[in-house]
Amino acid sequence: MKLEPEQESMRSGENGRIMAKAMETVVRYGEAFGAKRLVPIKSAHLAGTFGIGPFRAYLQILGQIASEGLKVRVPTTVNPRPGYNLNFINRRIAFPKQEPLEELLAAIGTTPNYSCVCYEKANVPSFGDRLAWAESSAVQFANSVLGARTNRNSILMDVCCAITGFTPEFGYLLDAHRRGQMLVKLDIKKMDAPALGYLLGERVVDKVPVLEHYPFSRIELKNMGGSMAASGGVALFHVEGLTPEAPGMNSVFDGPPETTITVTQEDLDSMRLHRPGKADMVVFGCPQMTCAEALGLAEKFAGKKARVPTWFCMVPHELALFREHVLYGKTLDAGVMVLEYCPLGALSLRLGKKHILTPSGKLLYYLKGADYGTEDDCLRACGVMQ
Ligand code: F3S
Repeated sequence: MKLEPEQESMRSGENGRIMAKAMETVVRYGEAFGAKRLVPIKSAHLAGTFGIGPFRAYLQILGQIASEGLKVRVPTTVNPRPGYNLNFINRRIAFPKQEPLEELLAAIGTTPNYSCVCYEKANVPSFGDRLAWAESSAVQFANSVLGARTNRNSILMDVCCAITGFTPEFGYLLDAHRRGQMLVKLDIKKMDAPALGYLLGERVVDKVPVLEHYPFSRIELKNMGGSMAASGGVALFHVEGLTPEAPGMNSVFDGPPETTITVTQEDLDSMRLHRPGKADMVVFGCPQMTCAEALGLAEKFAGKKARVPTWFCMVPHELALFREHVLYGKTLDAGVMVLEYCPLGALSLRLGKKHILTPSGKLLYYLKGADYGTEDDCLRACGVMQ
């Protein structure tokens, strides 16, 4: 790999021993994937925000960075908190290192947004920006909906890129890897975007799918992308006439698609738990919800009582907006817990065999024993919709 003089001096130690290690790591990462150069990034997003005990090495490395006074060189946001103080188990067993981890993240200069939906306010990329983000759902949104360019980086690689300000140019940073590969036809009467995303992740695996036109809302794109990036390794999708790199089918494919698949209504319906009344708990918000999403659900809860424990997991600054709305109090009165945590983190050590129903394909994929339902299925399980 050919390095610029600034990059070479960082690697050789002119900015200190820790910066040299970070640069060496970024260079080797790039070499492993055949990158020919490093390019500057506009921002980073870090996924390592759960203070679990086995993360000892991660904390040590962040500690070394902080002790040399190094800070991130680009705006750098961070993933959600896991709800370490929700209960005794989370505080003492699951996330004993949460407070020291957050102190270190602050010491190296990250933005304390604590959300995977960083792209709505805290860290908003422009079309064509090169980034070094981790967190598969955020990577998916940045690439697909905003037309920015980032690979699916790992925890620590995201830190090394943020500290150096550079990332290797390979994969989704290059035009050639952003072209459509698989055409997705839709034979659907009632859209269920997270279910569609989940099925596509399984079928597409790591290709670039191009969906024929459907007028997805921004919220549907968020929730579909989050599911797709969990059940598969998809980091970029296009929607004909909707996402920025797919004004038309001809402009997104180089020749005919490698494969064509059709997703039907029956496919989507097969994802659903057919007896939502069996759920012991309902969880909304993975990726975390915006205020608009919460308000849409809150209307259904106003003046009623949730039949089962129900969580809304929200982007922290969106929760602040929600709190100002009259429906916030009515949501609490209905017995809903409104949280700013990642539900996966908060629930990962839950005891017992509770059936958790969720309209999130990502939570379905990662949370053992979770079941999937459409938003309406989940509202029925809560007893607030017929
Ligand atoms: Fe975000 Fe946690 Fe879900 S990071 S996408 S809320 S698993």
